[in-house]
Amino acid sequence: MSIKKKIYVTEPLLPNLEDFNVYLKDIWDSKWITNMGDKHNLLENRLKEVLKVNNVSLFNNGTIALLVAIKALELPYGSEVITTPFTFAATPHCISWNGLKPVFCDIEPDTMTIDADKIERMITPNTSAILGVHVYGFPCHVEKIDKIAKKYNLKVIYDGAHVFSTEINGKSIGNFGDITMFSFHATKLFNTIEGGCLTYNNPNLVRKIYNLRNFGIQSEELVEEVGINGKMNELQACMGLLNLELYKEEQLKRKRVKAFYDKNLSSIKGIRIPKMPENTTNSYQYYPIIIEDDYPISRNELYDKFKLINIMTRKYFYPACSDYECYKNNLDVKLSDLSVVNDLKNKVLCLPFYGSLEESVLNEICEVLNNEAKVRTKIY
Ligand SMILES: Cc1ncc(COP(=O)(O)O)c(C=O)c1O
Repeated sequence: MSIKKKIYVTEPLLPNLEDFNVYLKDIWDSKWITNMGDKHNLLENRLKEVLKVNNVSLFNNGTIALLVAIKALELPYGSEVITTPFTFAATPHCISWNGLKPVFCDIEPDTMTIDADKIERMITPNTSAILGVHVYGFPCHVEKIDKIAKKYNLKVIYDGAHVFSTEINGKSIGNFGDITMFSFHATKLFNTIEGGCLTYNNPNLVRKIYNLRNFGIQSEELVEEVGINGKMNELQACMGLLNLELYKEEQLKRKRVKAFYDKNLSSIKGIRIPKMPENTTNSYQYYPIIIEDDYPISRNELYDKFKLINIMTRKYFYPACSDYECYKNNLDVKLSDLSVVNDLKNKVLCLPFYGSLEESVLNEICEVLNNEAKVRTKIY
């Protein structure tokens, strides 16, 4: 069976149009459309409660937020930042744009986050920070990373683009490390169309981050920093205020989709479903599966099969950042043994994952994965 409408890996969470129009009318009446307006400030405060952190600074997108996070920590120019290549391009690009050197560390096979046990051997006198990514919603080993950072006096930044509202042992994930970045891009569980934020607990960073986000302008006649334009506008903030009312319901729907996949896929030989650590709540951002060597066809062949029937799965994260043209032969980039990354980059497939996925489509996806396993078993 071929599905008529293309099914993508996600669908943006969209508020009711009438509700959005009420907010728009407010903005039109006020004639204040950007520059830390009422809606922006309201969203910043609401997010402090939702993310259970002391400080939230909103941004026009997650990438600019991450650029500013790294800049705010004043790492020595040219120093090394240990990170994962198993992430979206923005993560290492933000390190490089800050004039720092990405040092790519291998990942853990289960959570696919930076392997904390391999970080220490990559530390040199030139290392200034660790940048971990809570990839697909799986948290980094925050306690181990914290210990290493304290021992070597390193800063810790987390890319939390995939972990909106996640908690570890009851503690909100935005409280670990020096700064965490969240992305509110359209593809994320909670979106402001484009957008993002930084969370942090050090009060000394408030003024610094405010300045870096707004050209360094502190007041009409005082420019304190070489800042950039990272401001979130009022329309984005309205989208955020409305989506804050919806994201929990969307998580519940995704929980059901996850349960359907888990039930129908977990006994297929050759398909591994990575498990969330027990002490962690799920953000329900992605549903990755791993196509192991004993599955009859490769991840790439499966991707092509799905594409032929209009189901657009994603090979996140292929290629790994360490394979990019701009990093692989770059003397400013350090690579270690990346055997787990190089294995998993060819095996992970992210399946369509959003609340309104119809059961017929879910059935079709599971059938493809089941049938492929059965057909080949017969032949060989
Ligand atoms: C892991 C990760 N980091 C950073 C980003 C960049 O965020 P944004 O698109 O909001 O700039 C994304 C995706 O968009 C991401 O998936």
